[in-house]
Amino acid sequence: MSENLLKILVLHGPNLNLLGQREPEIYGALSLEQINEQLHQFAKEQGAELHFFQSNSEGELVDKIQQAKSDYQGVVINAAGYTHTSVALRDAIAAVELPTVEVHLSNIYQREDFRHHSYLAPVVIGQVSGFGPESYRLGLMGLIHHLREKNKEC
Ligand code: DQA
Repeated sequence: MSENLLKILVLHGPNLNLLGQREPEIYGALSLEQINEQLHQFAKEQGAELHFFQSNSEGELVDKIQQAKSDYQGVVINAAGYTHTSVALRDAIAAVELPTVEVHLSNIYQREDFRHHSYLAPVVIGQVSGFGPESYRLGLMGLIHHLREKNKEC
């Protein structure tokens, strides 16, 4: 197994800056900073370095994905509301061809119909939905496993 340090970008979409205050019965009590800190600790144990970025703006998220190509081996993304609307984010993920995992705190398939469709799902390697903050950790685990397997093949 390659023990090379993996560099992974974690992207958070709109309104996730309000985690902890925003509909806590759906999204839980942890703030985004707390979720990032937990992920950071876990990643360190796994030999991965994470960089975090949150934006409420679709264009900024697209820019970040485009720039990720040269600096990162993979992406974890919670595109939040843009999951259900954004062809632009989907196209950016498809364009950079970086292994990407989609995560959601809530189970989007148990909620309103408009949340059942993800524009990202066809262009990501996998999706984790419904485990609260643990969705991020599970998604990251899946991505790290995928990248290590890929490195073995090289
Ligand atoms: C979300 C689910 C989306 O439907 C919603 O718009 C969000 C958060 C989640 O993490 O459960 O903002 O992505």
